[in-house]
Amino acid sequence: MDKIVIEGGVPLKGEVKISGSKNSALPILAATLLAEGTCRIKNLPLLKDIETMLKILEFLGAKIKIRKKAVEINTESVKNIPAPYDLVRLMRGSVCILGPLLARFRKAIVSLPGGCIIGPRPIDLHLKGLEKLGAEIEIDKGYIKAKAKKLKGRRIFLGGTFGSSVLATANLMMAAALAEGETLIEFAAGEPEIVDLANFLNKMGAKVKGAGSHLLRIKGVKKLRGVSYRIIPDRVEAGTYLIAGLITRGKVSIKGAISGHLGAIIDKTEEAGAKVEIKKNSLYVENSQWPLKSVNLITLPYPGFPTDMQAQFMVLMCLSEGTSVITERVFPRRFMHIGELNRMGADIVVEENSAIVRGGRKFVGTRVMASDLRASAALVLASLAAEGKTEISRVYHLDRGYEGLVEKLTGLGAKIKRTN
Ligand code: EPU
Repeated sequence: MDKIVIEGGVPLKGEVKISGSKNSALPILAATLLAEGTCRIKNLPLLKDIETMLKILEFLGAKIKIRKKAVEINTESVKNIPAPYDLVRLMRGSVCILGPLLARFRKAIVSLPGGCIIGPRPIDLHLKGLEKLGAEIEIDKGYIKAKAKKLKGRRIFLGGTFGSSVLATANLMMAAALAEGETLIEFAAGEPEIVDLANFLNKMGAKVKGAGSHLLRIKGVKKLRGVSYRIIPDRVEAGTYLIAGLITRGKVSIKGAISGHLGAIIDKTEEAGAKVEIKKNSLYVENSQWPLKSVNLITLPYPGFPTDMQAQFMVLMCLSEGTSVITERVFPRRFMHIGELNRMGADIVVEENSAIVRGGRKFVGTRVMASDLRASAALVLASLAAEGKTEISRVYHLDRGYEGLVEKLTGLGAKIKRTN
């Protein structure tokens, strides 16, 4: 199995280009199931999760051509067959084919996505929403079996114990796009990825209003057409390079980042004392104020601080002066990175859904193991700032979400290599 080896302590310098957003691309690829004609999706990040979604579509019968960073998909020959466990279990994001399949065939069989290292990930909101639209759903031998004579627009309150749900909103938006009449989704997720999906659907001919707010109004249409669409840049990748620049005391230009999508991250780094320059199409970060000071944060649905940046920000807090309390309100058990960060020299304890991070520490290189995508990103960051060499194993987690990580960091001057 591959490993990443990093010799820490090199200030990163230069420019890094941000790839297309993984979490936008996944539901957008699923939404091509709704189109008559070919869709061309541009700025597609070439990642393991994207490959999995394309494999699922191909398994169902879609015709797919990948050309550089774009993919052409024609789903007209897709058949209504079960989406199998062997593919669906590879990532939770595959559950977002349920809505489009149901809208298109009035029947869908999709394997339950299974467990997840970042804590329980129920799909009750997905099912509740689709049932409200008229679907009958049963869970049978690990498969979700959904059918509907017709889907009919309704008013649906989609809030759950932890607030809004990104993929439940996506699933429902896609199903409602072809439903009869008007659907109102209250407590919808307002993440930029949801806005991206709504823009894609609207370009295809859908009538979705209110994306970005907590109230979505969707007027069902009879059919949707294939279109060409460009995916937004990945805000989590941009945030990760921002932290990389800060913790190595470097000077990094993050090209293609949309600052408006990174409000909470920029705000927290500035509160810690860093200066982030916002330019037209990029962010520039230079750490002249070292050490930074500790700040508290709570992860929340957008526009709050994203859970997908919690682990990376924690690395910054380990190196800052003072004590920081980081509370996880989206996935209360998403703290797998802490054990390995402590082994590298951090001082973090977990109390319920909060991590208490005593700052002013330094990282020392050692052998560590990645446990999930963002936890792995945190280990890479800690290694970049560490004294000596760190060997990170199980790096396939990083392949799921960071396109060209080794190449991009090498381009910034990091001493990093991938070995077998
Ligand atoms: N939840 C429910 N019931 C549901 C669905 C969700 O209670 O039916 C709860 C979850 O357990 C969680 C909260 O609601 O506590 C929010 O989860 P959400 O449904 O929004 O997560 P998701 O849509 O499954 C997406 C991203 C995640 C990201 C979360 C939160 C994709 C493919 N995944 O997941 O991304 O952490 O939103 O922003 O879009 C990652 O990229 O590393 C990643 C995990």
